[in-house]
Order: sequence, then structure tokens, then C-alpha cells
Amino acid sequence: MVEPQAGIFVEGSASHFFLEYQLIEGLSDAQLRATLASAIALPLSADVNNVWAFGADCWQRLTPDAVPHGLKSFTAIGEGHLVAPATQQSILVWLHGDNHSANFDAAMELSAALAAVATLNLEKIGFVYKDFRDLSGFIDGTENPKGRGQQVVALIPEGEAGAGGSYVMSQQWVHNLASFHALSQREQEDVIGRTKPDSIELDDARMPENSHVSRSDVKINGEAQKLYRRSVPYGGVLEHGLYFLAFSCDMQRFDHILASMFGVSGDGVHDHLTDFSTPVSGSYWFAPSAAELSVLASL
Ligand code: HEM
Repeated sequence: MVEPQAGIFVEGSASHFFLEYQLIEGLSDAQLRATLASAIALPLSADVNNVWAFGADCWQRLTPDAVPHGLKSFTAIGEGHLVAPATQQSILVWLHGDNHSANFDAAMELSAALAAVATLNLEKIGFVYKDFRDLSGFIDGTENPKGRGQQVVALIPEGEAGAGGSYVMSQQWVHNLASFHALSQREQEDVIGRTKPDSIELDDARMPENSHVSRSDVKINGEAQKLYRRSVPYGGVLEHGLYFLAFSCDMQRFDHILASMFGVSGDGVHDHLTDFSTPVSGSYWFAPSAAELSVLASL
């Protein structure tokens, strides 16, 4: 079994930093590799879990002989007023743990180490809201796989290029909580497809076809398109929402769920949640196995 980056599976962290960097134009490969190696090898506090992932162009450049077959850049999906935009970046670093100060120090150190080769273009500071709820007030993660199932869902299987690594999707969503909270609790539950206090799935008779559960619980040729989601809320009073982050053994699962949510999967129905929250970023990534990452660190 090829070991994954351990931080992917550490759950319950109170504090999260999501850092998306864009490579500076005109770098030599040698400069990129040397700078990246020293950043990955930085000795961070033991309190900080760190996960590294790379956009398709960056990974192709770093390891042209070991590109997972499904790896690609994020492209916009949807039509008309309802579009998930593409803002593909080159490097994603996810730092998390219960020690916010240690995460902050690590984020500063890593960003300084990467500064010669990459610009930090998106930064979100995430936190756990109540008992693992999205800021809408609904528990997020109920249907996530548990135990061994997490690795089966999240990791590229043995024998494929990128084994032990993971396809990753990130999306910053900005919530309009005033409009969501103007709904009655029953209407909010119909938007999500679960009850608010205890996250019980609505029964078939009540479940709307445009609820978030209906649109994200997708089957293709009988196969459930399961993801391992690690999203957390971010922000403050002026701007707040969800930093959606998910890991998958198969890149196409993201495409299928997004098409269903954004009304382009054939039935013309879109996810009612998109009327209350708006995606403003979108990137696809590859998070290599621990071994592949340490090769980068030793170059
Ligand atoms: C504003 C953005 C989003 C919010 C607030 C949100 C929130 C939620 C909530 C509350 C649930 C129900 C509880 C659970 O099973 O975790 C859920 C389920 C789920 N969400 Fe989202 N979500 C968002 C975006 C997305 C996106 C972009 C995707 C995938 C591309 C996605 C995929 C899923 C999946 C696969 C499930 C489980 C469905 C099932 O099998 O029942 N979500 N989400």
C-alpha cells in the first residue's frame, strides 16, 4: 500500500489555512524544483498537518513521466447566470490543526519559502463552526465515507499512475446568509435535503429534486460518485462561506456532481443551494502520495 499524505485523513482540526499559489512566469525548472524542495522540506511544528497538491500544468512540469491519467485543470461549468468559475492555480497548501498560532507561523514560513517562485493568490482561514456545521447551520459531512472507506474513495488505486495520491477539488463559496435565513426551517431543509437539527435525510416523498442532496448524490452507470469531503467554513462578518475541498480516486466524479448541481447534466435542474451561495473560485489538483512528495523534497 502506497502511503498517502497523512494530513488528508486527520479530522476535527479547529483551525485551517488554505493557500493557493500561482507560479511566477519565466522560471527555470531548476529554480522551481530547488525552491519547492526547500519549502516542502521545511521543519514545521508537529501541531501542523500539511497537505500539498499541484495543478495539472505544475505537476506535468515537475514529473512529466508520472502524470495521473485523469489530471486536468478546472474549467468553468454551467451556463447563463449559473456558472462555477475556473480560477486554476498551481500549488495548494492546506495547513490544519488545533493550534491556530502554529498554523499561522507555518503559513508565513511556507509563503516566504515559496515567494521566489509563486504568488499567493487565494488565502482562506477556516474554522469549525459549532458541531461541524456549515454557516447555514446544517451539519456538513454526514454522508462522508468512514474508516477504510475513506481511503477507498479518496485514493488513486495501486497500479495506476499516481497511486496513493488523490484527485482534489477546491472551490470558495460565498454565502448569502440573510437570504437563506429568511427561509423557514422547513424551506431551508428542502434546500439541503436533510433536517437541520440532526441531519436526517428527507424521505422520498418530501425530498425535492433540486435539493443539494438530490443534486450531489449522483450515480453514473449504477456507480455512486462518492467523495471524501474536507470542507470547512471561513470568513467573518463582511464575507463568509464554505471553502469546499474534496478528495477522490477519480477526477470525473467532480465533473459529474458539478454538472448535476449547475443544471447541465441533462434534466435542466440546478441545485437550489446555488441560489443562496456563489462559487468564486475553482481548481482541480493532484495531491501526490507521501513518497512522491518526499521525492520532490529531495530534488
Ligand atoms: C455552498 C457550498 C456547499 C455547502 C454549504 C454544502 C453542504 C452540504 C451539506 C449540508 C450536505 C449534507 C450533509 C452531508 O452529507 O455532508 C452536503 C452533502 C454533500 N455534498 Fe455538499 N455542500 C456544498 C457544495 C458541494 C459541492 C461543490 C459538492 C461537489 C462538487 C458537494 C458534494 C456533496 C456530496 C457528494 C454530498 C453527499 C450527498 C449524499 O450522498 O447524500 N457539495 N453538502
